[in-house]
Amino acid sequence: MKPLLGIETSCDDTSAAVLTSDGEVLSSVVASQVEVHAPYGGIVPELASRAHLRSLPPVVLAALERAGVGMDDLAAIAVTAGPGLLGSLLVGVSYAKAAAWSLRVPLIPVNHVEAHLRSPWIEHPDLDYPALALAVSGGHSHLFFCESPERVSIVASTRDDAAGEALDKLAKRMGLPYPGGPIIDRIAGRGDAGAVPFSLPRMSSGSLDYSFSGLKTAALHHMRENRLDLPDGCDPDGLPQWAYDLLASYQKRVVDHLLQRLKKASLVLGPRSLVMAGGVACNSVLRERLTLLGQELGIRTAFPSPMYCTDNAAMVAFLALRRLDAPAPSESTVDAFPTAHWPSLSHPLLRSA
Ligand code: KG4
Ligand code: ZN
Repeated sequence: MKPLLGIETSCDDTSAAVLTSDGEVLSSVVASQVEVHAPYGGIVPELASRAHLRSLPPVVLAALERAGVGMDDLAAIAVTAGPGLLGSLLVGVSYAKAAAWSLRVPLIPVNHVEAHLRSPWIEHPDLDYPALALAVSGGHSHLFFCESPERVSIVASTRDDAAGEALDKLAKRMGLPYPGGPIIDRIAGRGDAGAVPFSLPRMSSGSLDYSFSGLKTAALHHMRENRLDLPDGCDPDGLPQWAYDLLASYQKRVVDHLLQRLKKASLVLGPRSLVMAGGVACNSVLRERLTLLGQELGIRTAFPSPMYCTDNAAMVAFLALRRLDAPAPSESTVDAFPTAHWPSLSHPLLRSA
């Protein structure tokens, strides 16, 4: 069967990928906007849409060229329709609609978070369902129970910041470049993760939901109380020891919090796989600790290579493969949606320890 083109523009990465109908990634091209947003210390939605407008056509052409595939060879086009930044989504959706219409191929709209949840299967196709899946990025911290790629329900979600946001915000406050998550991952090993005794977030309702704002406030309080400060734009490789200790302790607590909930849910729900995806799933401490947790529980763990953890179109096309044989909606009915909801999984034993 002919290959499939995937398009992803939901946030600040412009991406296109070409996959064979049996899931082999022939090409995956990502144009990052980090340089566009770095001076602002976070994503500026208007700048993101404009950058997608500029980058998407050449990114699609590069993906086709690397795959050795022409526009006319495509079986279908898959595009992220939501959730995400509306202006960014509209660029990808409009492009994909026009391309699908002019090529007379089906257009398959894809949910971005569900594409992340499916991404571990790109490299581990034999992973079993049901899976307990952590989706952790700059915009999401959700724990999902996936009975199949299409049947997913929420076990826990964040009440405030996402895990990546929590890392990025502390890094910004400490004068480190944006995005802070990968920098913290690279330098936190120089600090003592037990140096700052942050307590683990708890929900008074006993819910398994995540919350990172208390942790962030505790870190800022620690800096104020001890009169610790760093100038903006400081060199991550030349920080005082207290800063490495703080980052190591903070990163450890973010990981503890994510995995404590995942372990509890796993003991109750008995999944056959533990997986994670999203930008924060690149974190080396989180990857190591999830692997150890899987060994402790006797459950297979898997996470994608970093290129499939952060936003990418390969995961979008990969999820859409499941729908190649289903009737596709008419292009004119496909629209961008900025938010998404999933059913919640309620279980009497799903309460935090
Ligand atoms: O999935 P993603 O590329 O974009 C969305 O937010 O959808 O995730 C970006 C987030 C940022 O918060 C970034 O700091 C974080 O993922 N991140 C990391 C690492 N790499 C990216 N956080 C911790 N450790 C990393 N190695
Ligand atoms: Zn994402």
